[in-house]
Amino acid sequence: MAKQKPSNASFNVEKIRADFPILKRRFGKNKLAYLDNAASAQKPQAVIDALADFYANHYSNVHRSVSTLAMEATDAFESARETVAQHVGAQTEEIVFTRNTSESINLVAYAWGNANVKAGDAIVITEMDHHSNLVPWQQLALLKKAELHYIPVEDAGEQNGQLDADFEFPENTKLFAFPHVSNVLGTVNDIKGWSQKAKFEAPGTTVVVDGAAGAPHFQLDLPASGADFYAFSGHKMCGPMGSGVLWGKKEILQEMPPFLFGGSMISKVEKEKTTWADLPAKFEAGTPNAADAVGLAAAINYLNKIGLKKIHDHEIKLADYACEELAKINGVTLYGPNGNASYATGKNGKDHVAKKPNVEKAQNRVGIVAFNLDGVHAHDLGSILDQDAIAIRSGHHCAQALMERLNVAATARASFYLYNTQEEVDRLVQGVKRVKKIFS
Ligand code: ALA
Repeated sequence: MAKQKPSNASFNVEKIRADFPILKRRFGKNKLAYLDNAASAQKPQAVIDALADFYANHYSNVHRSVSTLAMEATDAFESARETVAQHVGAQTEEIVFTRNTSESINLVAYAWGNANVKAGDAIVITEMDHHSNLVPWQQLALLKKAELHYIPVEDAGEQNGQLDADFEFPENTKLFAFPHVSNVLGTVNDIKGWSQKAKFEAPGTTVVVDGAAGAPHFQLDLPASGADFYAFSGHKMCGPMGSGVLWGKKEILQEMPPFLFGGSMISKVEKEKTTWADLPAKFEAGTPNAADAVGLAAAINYLNKIGLKKIHDHEIKLADYACEELAKINGVTLYGPNGNASYATGKNGKDHVAKKPNVEKAQNRVGIVAFNLDGVHAHDLGSILDQDAIAIRSGHHCAQALMERLNVAATARASFYLYNTQEEVDRLVQGVKRVKKIFS
């Protein structure tokens, strides 16, 4: 669902970089090359200023007191909700603030899942889900004695990094959860296509989309997406840590029981019973993280000023270039839609075969490049690159089921965003060559 808003601002990476104070940091003689954006993105001054302004000038608890200050804090919090709602094409009451994607998905698993999933139902997830969208469903399936099915990740040549489109949803599917974008492979899944397929093959299926790695890159129109729920985190889209969002269709949220009980989520409390507040308060128990919601709104405004389409174009150019240059290094295996790996495990049990990068698929990915270098553990690779102030992530990327599927313990992963440059990709490639030399 890549419906992108046009942007009038021209894309100028040096101007963008000047907005991010942390990019001025040096480690020894080296400038920071921050290529770990899929783990978390850096914050522009606009977001830092919005947080400081809220705490310095408008701070109070929200939805409680009648003081002018408390009203200002409440207005700032609720106007942040409106900004998020507009950004994803939703109604304001469909936006529930949480701490992060995991909490948003747990909310659905506990509140909706507990009320709707029963023994013998099927829950379908995918081999490319990260733990936020795997563990809650696995645990719900165990609790309810429901079946848990995984859509495989294809292992054949050109389909590298794609979900198996031939998967057939069991008729008893009650819930289908999948990632908008794989945080390891960079694969972009077609939300509408997969939602329609699930609901056609198993009518009545509820669809949950994990947008942690998708929301930072794509303009969303969630009511038209085909999904019933979409969860994302602010921190991966230049917003504060601790800001998360759950969007759900109003009629489903209205039917759902609360997840957490306590302050703010009530309408009336009597000694023996309680009635619930209207949406979205019913799902926001306790004092909310208002400041970080305000920071998230500032991040959304910042990204929209530049234009998500332009940002995506920029990052996939960097990803293409990185894939091309890394693939020239003998011993490098790339994973994902334009990778060169033919996955070793899975239904065909194929041997590992290096292939030419499949760059024509690049539009169907984001700027995430997972790779390995023969004979070198991804952690060693990451540590040596860090000596040159090149920050990547190495490990399982909170996606151990996918690592098992790829038949690797870990991978290195470079992930690009709006402020990254071709020069930084060159430093990455030179760094990998240096690692290769050290280990040869
Ligand atoms: N899931 C996050 C990542 O991709 C934390 O690194």
